[in-house]
Amino acid sequence: MSTTPDAQVARFRLSDQYLQLKNSFHRHLIQQIDERNLDIDQWDTEQIERFVLEQIRRYVVDQRLPINQRESEALARDAKDELMGYGPIQNLIDDDSVNDIVVNGPNRVFVERAGRLYSVPVRFFNDAHVIRVIQRILAPIGRRVDESTPMVDARLPDGSRVNAIIPPIALDGPCISIRKFRKTPLSADDLLRFGTISPAELDYLKQRVAGRTNLIVVGGTGSGKTTFLNLLSQWIPADERVVTIEDAAELRFEHGHVVRLETRPPNLEGERAVSARDLVRNALRMRPDRIVVGEVRGDEVLDMLQAMNTGHDGSMTTLHANSTRDAIHRLELLAGFAGYTGSELTFRGQIAAAIQLIVHVSRLKGGERRVMSVTEIAGLSGHELVMRDIFRYDGERGEHLDLRGEHT
Ligand SMILES: Nc1ncnc2c1ncn2[C@@H]1O[C@H](COP(=O)(O)OP(=O)(O)OP(=O)(O)O)[C@@H](O)[C@H]1O
Ligand SMILES: [Mg+2]
Repeated sequence: MSTTPDAQVARFRLSDQYLQLKNSFHRHLIQQIDERNLDIDQWDTEQIERFVLEQIRRYVVDQRLPINQRESEALARDAKDELMGYGPIQNLIDDDSVNDIVVNGPNRVFVERAGRLYSVPVRFFNDAHVIRVIQRILAPIGRRVDESTPMVDARLPDGSRVNAIIPPIALDGPCISIRKFRKTPLSADDLLRFGTISPAELDYLKQRVAGRTNLIVVGGTGSGKTTFLNLLSQWIPADERVVTIEDAAELRFEHGHVVRLETRPPNLEGERAVSARDLVRNALRMRPDRIVVGEVRGDEVLDMLQAMNTGHDGSMTTLHANSTRDAIHRLELLAGFAGYTGSELTFRGQIAAAIQLIVHVSRLKGGERRVMSVTEIAGLSGHELVMRDIFRYDGERGEHLDLRGEHT
């Protein structure tokens, strides 16, 4: 069977033999750098490339390695990435078709492309290698992982979001999750084209946002909540003052009058943290028309509901939940954790008064995102919230149903 040279090189790069070669050549490079006391962090790309090529030429001869020109070029490229970039995942970071990169220990790497998760044949040498790449990712933003801070959630200068967690907390080796920042955010047209939303839903939500409805977007991990919130924000009239509060700033409002605030994790001594709750409270003093919290996940829930109840109509947030009902339970749970001492009934009353609309987004099995329902909270009846769906996605028919007629 004949294969193309490219395919041969691709296969070669996946072999154990190549991994060993790469590993030992990498060690050789590090040794050279140490012995000669080279300060490669100060070098430019060209210098590093020259150094790597020169070293490979010698190494191949010294070790009598049976590799051809293309294979040694592949080795040169990988070794260069290894020295300067993000190692084995550099290519994935550069690849614009990749949205998410997930590393589960040295031997399991996945990417998400167009909504689907794929396993990719990328490997690290060992745990230490993964950790080295993590440190290199975090260094420019002044963060690091180690035994005392085994997990880090951070935003890179390009806006991408990174989470890293290492052993002994991570049982199967160090993990990295990167959510790449889209250069151009998904637009309403994109979401229509993907079938995420129907034109009628879009139109309806546009009106409601402009009309200062308080709403929350709920959904599972990676279901598209933040993307959706970002989309909704563009219909906030330009003369309204918006304060946004996020753990890692992801929202990109194309809005003139926006103040962006970001929480701060505690320092090594466990001090100087600025929580979302602190920021919501502070935001109330900044005379905002609306407050947008990227995601409610802690004790800021009470302040956020209060803000929604006290003249900041049109405030919005997202919440991790698997359904609209689940969202209510999550709110109650968070309120409990936040030390809420009132009765369940009072709290539901507060929810009914604060939130008018719940948009549930979901990631379907194939990776497509759908607005599953747009639900109105109509009030409280006895102990229960009265909720009615304005739109609902019918999975079997693959259709967004408009239920507005049913409520008149
Ligand atoms: N409607 C959509 N169609 C296709 N891909 C989408 C859609 N919405 C979001 N995505 C992609 O899905 C990924 C997750 O999106 P997003 O960050 O908005 O989700 P999330 O629910 O806020 O996630 P998290 O739970 O991590 O906060 C991103 O890569 C984004 O580009
Ligand atoms: Mg999000």
